[in-house]
Amino acid sequence: MVLVMPKHILIFDSGVGGLSVYKEIQQQLPSEKYIYAFDNAAFPYGELTESVLIERTTHIIAQLCSLFPIDIVVIACNTASTIVLPTLREKLSIPVVGVVPAIKPAALVSKKIGLLATPATVKRSYTYDLIKSFAPISDVQLLGSTRLVEMAEEKMIGKNVDLKELEEILLPWKETVDTIVLGCTHFPFLKSEIKKVLNNNVLLIDSGEAIARRVTQLLGTIERGGQSEQKGEVYCSAPTKNEEALNKTFRELEFSPLQYLDYPKF
Ligand code: DGL
Repeated sequence: MVLVMPKHILIFDSGVGGLSVYKEIQQQLPSEKYIYAFDNAAFPYGELTESVLIERTTHIIAQLCSLFPIDIVVIACNTASTIVLPTLREKLSIPVVGVVPAIKPAALVSKKIGLLATPATVKRSYTYDLIKSFAPISDVQLLGSTRLVEMAEEKMIGKNVDLKELEEILLPWKETVDTIVLGCTHFPFLKSEIKKVLNNNVLLIDSGEAIARRVTQLLGTIERGGQSEQKGEVYCSAPTKNEEALNKTFRELEFSPLQYLDYPKF
């Protein structure tokens, strides 16, 4: 039998949100080598200027590409993807996959859509172009919230989600939308709570599975062996007081303990 070495997949986000995308990719490609990197020094990305976003993302990705033989980069962050993809694709000779809010599939099933994203994503012309192209006859309401991103981060280190607070954030959408596009990779981790506060009356759509399909298509579906037992590696850009709780989450997802990138403090 010919053993095919695992491919190295680099997944990047500002925080733990990209793990929702990792889970989908890992399900389709369980034998690959995963490197997960997050820029916690500059979290949240939804509050950054475009130039800072480009600078940080390209610097961190370049650093990891020099440490590992990366085969594909997944920018598992809608906020960064709306801005950094052209620069990254120009600099790298490997495929770079980004995450786009799932407006297109949502418009196929609904005319009353809510786009839940970061404050930056809901302002970007990229998002408006997406709506114009794929949902021209739908009513698309936009809601940008950094607090929701923080709530997802908190959940991933074992804290309870405050349902009252979540309900207040989503109040404008009670009865007004029937489909919500989760346009931030942190939000799939809040799916059950979002459904609960909206009385299960909504369809939630995210881009994770589509991204995983795209990555599989680009890498091919050859059965790989060799180092399939290898754990994934996680890097972040600043020390965190939540290291122990984060490591528990990473362990459950088959990653080794957190390591630190060499990057100046934000
Ligand atoms: N997970 C990110 C996204 O998909 C960004 C969250 C943030 O750092 O504001 O947009």
